[in-house]
Amino acid sequence: MERDLSAIVLAAGKGTRMRSRRAKVLHELGGAPMIARVTRTLTALGARPLIVVVGHQAEEVAFAAGRGCASGGVAFAHQARQLGTGDAARAGLAELDASFAGDVLISYGDLPMLTAATLRSFIAHHRSSGAQLSFISVELDDAVAYGRVVRDASGAVAGIVEARDADATQCGIKEINTGVYVAEAALLRDVLGELKNENSQGEFYLTDIVAIARRRGARADAYRARDAAEFAGVNSHEELAAMEANIRDAVNRRLMDAGVKMVDPATAYISEDAEIASDCVIGPNVQILGRCRIGEGVVIDGTAWLKDVAVGPRCHLRLGVRAEECTIGEESEIGPFANLRTGTELEGRNRIGNFVETKNTKLGRGSKASHLSYLGDAVIGRDTNVGCGVITVNYDGYDKHQTQIGDRCMVGCDTQLVAPVKVGSDVYVGSGTTIVRDVEDGALVMSQHPQRQKAGWMARFHQRHAGRRPWWVQKS
Ligand code: UD1
Ligand code: CA
Repeated sequence: MERDLSAIVLAAGKGTRMRSRRAKVLHELGGAPMIARVTRTLTALGARPLIVVVGHQAEEVAFAAGRGCASGGVAFAHQARQLGTGDAARAGLAELDASFAGDVLISYGDLPMLTAATLRSFIAHHRSSGAQLSFISVELDDAVAYGRVVRDASGAVAGIVEARDADATQCGIKEINTGVYVAEAALLRDVLGELKNENSQGEFYLTDIVAIARRRGARADAYRARDAAEFAGVNSHEELAAMEANIRDAVNRRLMDAGVKMVDPATAYISEDAEIASDCVIGPNVQILGRCRIGEGVVIDGTAWLKDVAVGPRCHLRLGVRAEECTIGEESEIGPFANLRTGTELEGRNRIGNFVETKNTKLGRGSKASHLSYLGDAVIGRDTNVGCGVITVNYDGYDKHQTQIGDRCMVGCDTQLVAPVKVGSDVYVGSGTTIVRDVEDGALVMSQHPQRQKAGWMARFHQRHAGRRPWWVQKS
């Protein structure tokens, strides 16, 4: 039978090298806080319970950690003062039920590239190797600030020495500690109990458990992972940006392999969670964020910002489309310069043209708003044309109100619809109309504003300013 596995993630530290008010693990990578990426991976691994140790900005970190897993999937331990990684692990272990008899995986919260597949191999190796404690190491040409793995004459792991405490020979060691450990809960309780803070930083180092375990006659083993990039801990904004670029490249390569054309992959910023079908064309400077679903053959000309948007097959997004939390039905044409806000639902074959803003608005199949409009809180039927400059007056300063327009209507230019109001189907709205009452099916509706004319008025106006030239007329 498989042994039980639980996990502890250390995320109480501040991360001073980010030079930020925000805790390091809250900084976003690939659209999610780093800590959420770690908890997502450990959830996929099936670690239960999953305990996150919080301290610095505890509430925000706990909230972000919860984003990575199903609700209730994560428990929290509080590290009151940041006395070191060993102290943090102790706080996490205290939160684990005393009856838990399986293995405990401990990981740092600043390892956002960790994958469940690597962790699975690591745990399988640990369980078959006969070691009582294992951790993941990698070889680095430049080991910089990482903890060095010290081995004895026989090649067995003797301990981990932090860079700041290492002597010159130890500094030259290329095998480093990644910060991922596994051992039985009981052994961890024992060795964590023995930690001392006698080192250059006066901290309780989790890394010391390796030497302590060995002293107690237990075998500690390092599992050498091949891909060092997976264990890069983020410590600065420079490292964060480099990692972001790596993630982006990988996403773009996968999409291009699957038949997506990218005019310039260097300026395509696409979330790992996006689904983009084949024969799509992604123009320059396009951001596709969150959980977007883009259907087959969609063409995005360029300079677009899409977040959590579903785009049906064969749509054409012209230059400058911004869309968030909305649905664009198949074969629609959007833009240039359109702003589709939350709750916009286009049924299909729609046209939204330049300088049109929509919010919480449904457009039935084939309906169009081609120029300069605001459509908020509206339900519009099929094959209706919304003319240039039409505005739904949806807000009275206290509440939002709905506008309804039926099928096959012709809404003339510069119409205002003062909500709540309902226009039936097959209605013709004369241009410049202010609609304040419901309109029945089949009607022509227009506001009465009789046109007045004063013959010869302009000449008299100029005479009153004799000798002067009006500003809108050029010198001849
Ligand atoms: C640590 C390791 C080092 C390893 C490196 C890998 C120790 C002593 N050193 O160093 O051997 O090579 O990671 O990236 O463990 N944390 C807490 N509470 C604390 C201190 C830290 O929760 O009191 C958390 C941090 O939020 C962070 C993680 O532990 O997520 C690691 O801490 P960090 O300060 O980044 O350790 P490193 O100096 O990088
Ligand atoms: Ca670190």
